[in-house]
Amino acid sequence: GSTLQDAAAETGRYYGTAIAASRMNDQQYMNIANTEFNMITAENEMKMDAMQPQRGNFNWASGDRIVDWALQNGKQVRGHALAWHSQQPGWMQSMEGSSLRTAMLDHVTQVATYYRGKIHSWDVVNEAFADGSSGARRDSNLQRTGNDWIEAAFRAARAADPQAKLCYNDYNIDNWNHAKTRAVHAMVADFKSRGVPIDCVGLQAHFNSGNPVPSDYHVTIQNFADLGVDVQITELDIEGSGTSQAEQFRGVHQACMSVARCTGISVWGVRDTDSWRAQGTPLLFDGNGGKKAAYHAVLEQLNSG
Ligand code: G3I
Repeated sequence: GSTLQDAAAETGRYYGTAIAASRMNDQQYMNIANTEFNMITAENEMKMDAMQPQRGNFNWASGDRIVDWALQNGKQVRGHALAWHSQQPGWMQSMEGSSLRTAMLDHVTQVATYYRGKIHSWDVVNEAFADGSSGARRDSNLQRTGNDWIEAAFRAARAADPQAKLCYNDYNIDNWNHAKTRAVHAMVADFKSRGVPIDCVGLQAHFNSGNPVPSDYHVTIQNFADLGVDVQITELDIEGSGTSQAEQFRGVHQACMSVARCTGISVWGVRDTDSWRAQGTPLLFDGNGGKKAAYHAVLEQLNSG
């Protein structure tokens, strides 16, 4: 294949990116997005604060702009994210207990119902585990409603959109020898054993020099897949430049391609200048829309499989 999406499709995988509605008037940006990618994630527009700015008052316009463009151009959509401790609307941030639980489940139900039939996979719950060595859940208003809030969210999402794949998504769960990775793995194993509806695990994969691509990445991916879920790389970016960056990108793709149930890879933005950490030049296209060494390494790796 001569594009990322075509090369990935030849291995049975998708290739995605995050899209920002605010950049959709930029022709260069949209041309690259349309040519190279076939899985689209809204970078911010489908988060809780964007979808339900006031309680009971939903704002679908920006999410629809991205979803409609994707579907009209033959692409699939990753929904991001139904429930998260961050990016909550102000009214939700101040809630707690059973009223928060009800509001969260209502949000999951309403958003998943609105987009029913249009979403390939939902990030049902995002970033619910703590950093560091505790292996504990992250403290948050949602967590304080009870440890079962995550499974409650998954059950509500399944009821609202039975066709969508339901994923748990997190960062720093790339190293197998890391407490957070093991804790997420244990949760997914528990969900599978008790019949809680979960179909996939998203590894965000935000890397930099302090958090490099692990040498055992394929082990982590395989261990999640062995639980009976699909695995996706959902928000890939790697700070750096030149050959070193390119080889790290290649390694991530090699790891995914070595596991049959690693079904797709998405980068977290189009050009370096579109990135949430633009100074780290972490993406596949430079600020002028040019293909970087990392792009060529990724395309070559995808074509080798
Ligand atoms: O659009 C407003 C603008 O009107 C306002 O003037 C400006 C002032 O702060 O803010 C703008 O909104 C910002 C938005 O990005 C769009 O640029 C928000 O402040 C800013 O918080 C938001 O950051 C996003 C971040 O998630 C929020 O949590 C990043 O774009 C987005 O890339 C990032 O994505 C997350 C994933 O959702 C979850 N995993 C980690 C990943 C990277 O942090």
